[in-house]
This record gives sequence, structure tokens and C-alpha cells, in this order.
Amino acid sequence: MIGVFDSGHGGLTVLKGLADRFPNQNFLYLGDHINAPYGNRSSDEIVELTRRSVETLFEHGCGLVVLGCNTATAIACRSLQQDWLPQSKWQGRNVLGIIAPTVEVATQTPWGMTEPQYPQMYKEDVIAVFGTQRTIDSMVYDEEIKKRCPQIDIVGKACPDLVTAIEGGDQSLEIDSLVKGYVTEMLAEAADKTDGKQPHYAILGCTHYPLVEPLFAKYLPASCRVLSQPTIVAQALEHYLKRHPHFSTKRAEGANEAARRVQLLTTGDVAFIEQKLTFAWPGRPRFELLAEING
Ligand code: DGL
Repeated sequence: MIGVFDSGHGGLTVLKGLADRFPNQNFLYLGDHINAPYGNRSSDEIVELTRRSVETLFEHGCGLVVLGCNTATAIACRSLQQDWLPQSKWQGRNVLGIIAPTVEVATQTPWGMTEPQYPQMYKEDVIAVFGTQRTIDSMVYDEEIKKRCPQIDIVGKACPDLVTAIEGGDQSLEIDSLVKGYVTEMLAEAADKTDGKQPHYAILGCTHYPLVEPLFAKYLPASCRVLSQPTIVAQALEHYLKRHPHFSTKRAEGANEAARRVQLLTTGDVAFIEQKLTFAWPGRPRFELLAEING
């Protein structure tokens, strides 16, 4: 089973991309709704909460966990991979973040190449990055993109109130005006920084934001391409599973569709989450309470 984790229901956008791309894989999702949002928390808290959730997914049989959360990836992924995992009882399992594949697509450069290559070294695009306060403050997108494409201008825009509004299922009016405000501020900052240029690409660097992607598209210039993380992460996982097939949990040939499992767990209030999700997730996913599963 492959685990997907997020602080809340933003990671469902990643899960959906993966479930569509891998119709034969079993997935287990964990939303840590009770502790969401992570985006304004301290680094220590984010590392600890992420570690706990990854461990829960391992305990439930996942060999591989995808952090469907930019904040957890920016703040916790490296420390989990390098410090915690090798010392833990979970050696042989793995945790993957979602920033590396996004940077690869934005820069058209493999992650392993950390020096600028031709023609990337001369790219002069402007890239807008929207994310939580912690993701933007971490500067991870700026640093990783600049390493590979030093001439690209990055305009990071923290959207500190957006995750809470999306998690709360606030209907379009409030979310619309929040997105409009963040995009307008980003455009002004981009023009300031680049002598009047507009962004060529926008990274929605928080997995909650694809749930309101049409609003970003509405306020961004028509020429600005939105990079879709669910698609990018699904492509990256496909390559990863080719190189590490033992993490693949394909159903047996000929098994029927009912045997496939995409199970959703939460630490939060199941009824509230399911009701609030209807605006963004027409299929109405069914969550189970983690505490009950654990007995
Ligand atoms: N979906 C998470 C992300 O990608 C949201 C973080 C939060 O809980 O604030 O950053």
C-alpha cells in the first residue's frame, strides 16, 4: 500500500492524481485535520506531527509514504529521510516529498543536477510561487530553482489565510476575495521586481490550492501557466516505482475493481470534514476516524 499524507484534505488533490494514474495500486490517505493548518506552526511541531503521521501510515502497512503537503515537505522531509528513518525501526521504507518533482518541471532539469546547464542557465522566466507562510519563508522553491536556473525571477507569495478558509469549506465569496487579494499583491510585487514583467508560470505550492485552482486562473494573466502538482507528482511516482518496483502494490492480474482500496483516514471530525468537502470534492469521499481504526 502507498500512503499519502497531508495536514488536512489538501493532499486529496495529490491522492486523486495518483489514484487516476495508478488504477491498480492500493492507497491509504491520512489527513491530520485535528492539527491543521500546519502552515503557521513552528518547524519542530511540523517535523514531529509529520513524523507521527508517517509512522501511522507505516504501522498500517504502507511501504512508501508520499508527503502530499508542501509545508511538511519543505520543513520535515529531509530530516525524516536523513535523520529519523535510518535510525528507526522502519528501515527499508521510504518517504517522498513533492517539491523536488515540482522544481524539476519548473526548471526542466533533473533533481540530481544542481549546477545550471545550457539552456536553463539563460532562462529568464518569472515564476510565481504561492504557498503557506512556512513554505514561502523556507525559500526552498527560490533556492532550488535558482540553483538550476539562476536568471529566473521568483516571486513568492504567502497566502496565510487560504488553507483555513478551504478547510472550513467557506463558500466562494470569501475564498474568491482571498485569492484575488493574494494574486493582485503577487502581480504588483512581480512588476516591481522585474521591471513590469508578469509571471510566465505559477506554482500552486500548497496542495490545498488546486481545490480552488479556477480562482487562481481567473485572476492570473491568461498567459501564465499554472503548474499542477497532482499531475507532476503522479508522473514522478511513476518514474520512482519503475526504479523501485518493490514499493509497488499492484493488485493481482484479473482481480476485480472492488478489490482496489483507496482508504481515507483522519484524525479530525469525520462528519464535519465530509460535509465541508462537498464543495471541492463532488464524489464525497468517505473518511474513517484514525482513533477508531486503531481501536
Ligand atoms: N496542503 C498543505 C501544503 O501543501 C497545507 C499546509 C497547512 O496545513 O497549512 O502546504
